[in-house]
Amino acid sequence: MSPGVSITGAAQVLRPPEDGLAFMRHDRAGELSAEPGSVAFEGDRIAGFEPDPTAVWQIDAQGCAVIPGFVDCHTHLPFAGWRAEEYEMKVTGVPYEEIARAGGGIRASARALARASDDAILAQARALAAEMLAHGTTTFEGKSGYGLSVEAELRLLGLAGRLAEGVPQPTATTALLAHAVPDGYDADGWMEAVAAMVPEVARATRATALDIYVESIGFTNQHLRRMGELASAHGLDLRTHVEQFNSHRSIPVALEVGARSVDHLSCLHPDDIGPLAAADCAAVLLPGAEFMGNEHVPPARELVEAGALCVLATDANPGTSPIVSMPLVIGLAVRRYGWNVLEALLAATLNAAWVLRASTDTGSLEVGKRADILLLDGPLEHIPYRLGHNPVAIAFLGGEPVWVRPDCAWRVAG
Ligand code: NIG
Ligand code: FE
Repeated sequence: MSPGVSITGAAQVLRPPEDGLAFMRHDRAGELSAEPGSVAFEGDRIAGFEPDPTAVWQIDAQGCAVIPGFVDCHTHLPFAGWRAEEYEMKVTGVPYEEIARAGGGIRASARALARASDDAILAQARALAAEMLAHGTTTFEGKSGYGLSVEAELRLLGLAGRLAEGVPQPTATTALLAHAVPDGYDADGWMEAVAAMVPEVARATRATALDIYVESIGFTNQHLRRMGELASAHGLDLRTHVEQFNSHRSIPVALEVGARSVDHLSCLHPDDIGPLAAADCAAVLLPGAEFMGNEHVPPARELVEAGALCVLATDANPGTSPIVSMPLVIGLAVRRYGWNVLEALLAATLNAAWVLRASTDTGSLEVGKRADILLLDGPLEHIPYRLGHNPVAIAFLGGEPVWVRPDCAWRVAG
């Protein structure tokens, strides 16, 4: 347990309009407040919003914003290596789907994974988690999905468990069991194999959700329905990769089977905005993948105005989004979606925590919540404006200052 900490005299402290909200629909984002103030914590919990002159650690927050740590609820950690050569192909005009059909894409990462040792995979993932922490990510999710066989998927889920023990952040794990159709199977045949392995995934791994990629190069809405049924039958959440490159009208199916989130949505059909906005299902937008893949821009402004539960995440993966920085993702979202900074921050904190069933413990500054807190080196508005700059001066995780940027160390006394 850390001794008391007082972050005193901040220019802005980002707070929800009331305590105890599991999430906020985005038409309410303007109710978040960012007034001058202070935050005190005791041990790993937020204790109050007055300066505490008796606290052992005194943090000078003059000119700074204080916000909850970012929750990155959609990444593909752990994976092996990178695919920079594909990026060069993409930017010079070869579509992702063509690269994938020629054996690149997810399959290329599956081959790299098969060749890599457990230690090498974990070392890469731990280094990325450290980079994420320095950019303010205090909770993250990771997925399997580059296994492409029953054994390799179980190996990845086992590695996710070891990763969870080897990083400071709390993590959640998703079993992305239908990512690409493995060699030797058709999509239906692979779904049979998935159905056979789900009981073991639910019983013997740390996965709390299933995931599926619905696309011309992946699986269909029928498979999505099946994955939803498997998730319900085994007490797991359903996460989905949908409407990324084409509109398959997956939203009605995902909502019918109770998906916790629908992720990507670059090609979201206009008729699906209303039903999605009315549902307790998160619209997880991935502006890093959209930017790197030159994808369509999702109807994000419309989702906000319709009152959807919007979320931002990095989609960190070696193919479509080799990005781990939530500040960068926020900057892209603000510019490309026409969102204001409060809308982007709600999507990167409380609502993202809801996706991971973590919003009672983290995602907003409330007395009693875990002290996962960022001190920024300037006002909130600078996060999107100074695109590419890392604004995180100090990151507290469970009350501990786990990242202190060297040029901001003078702010800490104690
Ligand atoms: O979220 N869309 C499918 N899956 C990943 C990309 C996987 C890859 O290219 O390695 C995504 O974009
Ligand atoms: Fe993804």
